[in-house]
Amino acid sequence: MKIAISGSEGQLGLSWQHYLKGDLDDTEAKSSTILPGYYESKVYNSSDSEAIYWLPLNRAQFDLCVPESIQTTLDRFQPDVLINTAAYTKVDQAEDEQELAFECNAKGVAALGKACMERDIRLVHYSTDYVFPGLEEDALKYPSGYPESAPTDPVNIYGETKWKGEQELLSLESNVLILRVSWLCSAYGNNFLKTILKRAKSHGQLKVVNDQIGVPTFTEDVIEQTLQLLQLNAQGVLHLGSKGIISWHDFAKEILEFADINVPIEAVSSDFFPSKAVRPKFSKLSTSKLENLGIKVWPWQRACKRVVSSLKDI
Ligand SMILES: NC(=O)c1ccc[n+]([C@@H]2O[C@H](COP(=O)([O-])OP(=O)(O)OC[C@H]3O[C@@H](n4cnc5c(N)ncnc54)[C@H](OP(=O)(O)O)[C@@H]3O)[C@@H](O)[C@H]2O)c1
Repeated sequence: MKIAISGSEGQLGLSWQHYLKGDLDDTEAKSSTILPGYYESKVYNSSDSEAIYWLPLNRAQFDLCVPESIQTTLDRFQPDVLINTAAYTKVDQAEDEQELAFECNAKGVAALGKACMERDIRLVHYSTDYVFPGLEEDALKYPSGYPESAPTDPVNIYGETKWKGEQELLSLESNVLILRVSWLCSAYGNNFLKTILKRAKSHGQLKVVNDQIGVPTFTEDVIEQTLQLLQLNAQGVLHLGSKGIISWHDFAKEILEFADINVPIEAVSSDFFPSKAVRPKFSKLSTSKLENLGIKVWPWQRACKRVVSSLKDI
């Protein structure tokens, strides 16, 4: 199976690269001799031990705002599956750069969907809990998290652009898998966990909001769930994630506890950190549909401990 990963330099893209490399470092990752540009993965498609070849695509090779770059790259490398982790993700800036955010997350994604459909390439596309309103009262209405069928009502412009991208793909009626995720964390790129560890070391004390709740979701879990869904030939919209629910404040406390760092963390309300874009008060996505497909959903702490210990020297 030939997998291309767009957005390869972002948090999820880097996580895919590290996952598929296994325990090899950059210099050891083996280029395929039969498939130029691709690497041989140490991970196998577990159902039939089919080899996985993977290809990282950065923005210079694959720009969502330049449809020709998508077409040229797909024609050149002819992947079986395109995992799209690329997106305009600047949540606050999107309020001022609406046109650019739509260009990338809606128009660009539509062009990507069409290009994949025309070439018979399976498309896996990541979306977000921000397609939902994220209201505080929704925590009572959906105690296990928003199901896939809950009415969407994007919380901000970024959410609206991602929702529009979903709609564009669904209108194609092709082999598309849209995977919504929330609160992504990992050892790579930028994320809350890394910010907390760095700030705790540099500032010695922290203030973190306690009125937004959700589930930290580690990219290794997201990748394993994605690979299993590919094996099942799943299509349509699905929520990925982990078990649990927690506020950002309590999550920060747990991160520092796992890291054995003892600095005070003050709980503050969202008003303490005014932001251009509204943030959801409730971000949990239900993983019932995923579990009903036989896919294991782990408590978020499992991957968190591993990632924290890998970041000891951050
Ligand atoms: N992070 C989260 O908590 C979270 C939560 C919910 C959903 N998601 C979704 O999960 C996916 C992965 O997120 P992430 O955390 O990996 O985001 P990220 O770290 O911001 O990575 C996004 C990548 O996309 C690239 N990109 C931006 N504009 C592009 C364009 N026009 N063409 C091609 N590439 C472009 C970025 O490149 P530059 O660095 O050059 O801009 C970056 O490498 C996205 O679909 C995001 O919407 C993330």
